[in-house]
Amino acid sequence: MSFRYLLGGLVIVAAYAYLLAFARRWSSALRRPRPLYAALAVVSGLVLGGMLESAVARAEAPAWVIQLFWPVLLSNATLVQALPLLIGIDVALRLRSRAARRAGKAQSTPDRAEDPDPEFAGEEAERAVREHLRHSSIPPSPSKDALPEPIDESRRRAIAQVGAGLAFASFGGPLLWGSLKTRFDVELTEVPIRIARLPKALDGFSIVQVSDIHVGAFVSDRQLARAEELVVGLRPDLVVMTGDLVHARREDLARGVAWLARLRGRARHGVVGILGNHEYFVGAERALAAMRAAGIDALFNEGRVIAPGDGGGFVLVGTDDLAGLEHGRGPGPQVHEALLAMPPEAARVLLCHQPQYHPTAASYGFDLQLSGHTHGGQIGPFGPLVSKAIFGKVAGLSAIGDSRLYVNRGLGTSGPPSRVRVRPEITKIVLVAG
Ligand SMILES: [Fe+2]
Repeated sequence: MSFRYLLGGLVIVAAYAYLLAFARRWSSALRRPRPLYAALAVVSGLVLGGMLESAVARAEAPAWVIQLFWPVLLSNATLVQALPLLIGIDVALRLRSRAARRAGKAQSTPDRAEDPDPEFAGEEAERAVREHLRHSSIPPSPSKDALPEPIDESRRRAIAQVGAGLAFASFGGPLLWGSLKTRFDVELTEVPIRIARLPKALDGFSIVQVSDIHVGAFVSDRQLARAEELVVGLRPDLVVMTGDLVHARREDLARGVAWLARLRGRARHGVVGILGNHEYFVGAERALAAMRAAGIDALFNEGRVIAPGDGGGFVLVGTDDLAGLEHGRGPGPQVHEALLAMPPEAARVLLCHQPQYHPTAASYGFDLQLSGHTHGGQIGPFGPLVSKAIFGKVAGLSAIGDSRLYVNRGLGTSGPPSRVRVRPEITKIVLVAG
């Protein structure tokens, strides 16, 4: 198990531990052991489920088994998103209690007994009475569960419960909508890119970019057929796939490659593909071989001259993914050797799965780099912020000098099968000469 998955698992465990502590503190139902044990069992299932999903997918489990994890993945994502709000509610209520306590002390008489933990005085007193009743020979009073509570405590509890409910609804609702609706709502974007040294004959040349399709248990054949229609409708001169065609299973690699191969005949200059980090889950060699066998030009730190008959064409280089380097199973992105075999004066376009390679690409004189990997953050509002912090770029166009980078938001999903405020995307890059 990689460090990233372990870290993700620990975040989920910590989030659920905090949720239980929150519920224990602010819910009267969890004061009794049975609901607490039930909650613990559900939580253990969710934590294990979240960690297991990826392992199950990589173990080539049937699609329906992986689909069973749908509620688990959405629950975990909801909790992680709602956590900052829960902590905010908790801290606000504690500060309020502290302020009230200070005000109470200021008004108290000198002979009044000091409360060791006044914040939960009502709660502790009630617990002590219950404990006493449990161990005494006196038959339990019918009114023991209905002991009067201090007004302030019940008010704080109500605020916490309503606040927690709103926090979950405000993230759970959009996640559910994003799973049922947004993740299928593909946006077509058209991006003109001016390249000074592009031959005039190639002015208006269109490259349709698809990325991060993550063909797997949560991507249906119907969804793929719809994406195919959209790509064909854009009338591409060339189709490029910038990595993560497959999510995790070899069976889905075959589905993904078959889908990509169908696009081959719909673009004058065919389909070019590169590896993403997820291709390493099914085996980089296997993924490259499958694409090439289906007639897809899979580039692995190699270059091609596209449309050489049109004024000399332009150079297209495709790289290995950084995952190859990270796991010691590949060289990672390398462009030096590939460029040596290419005409030096031609315009240069790079396909590289992860956007953070762009400064190197710019230093090698690439006019344009096309990337994916970020999914645009996938789950707003926090996903894009995390993506920005990790990869520097989240989505769309940016530049270093004259070198442009375009980051596509992808078609599929990873982790929770949902997209919140981040629609899937197919990009039509239109090259402009001069
Ligand atoms: Fe991806």
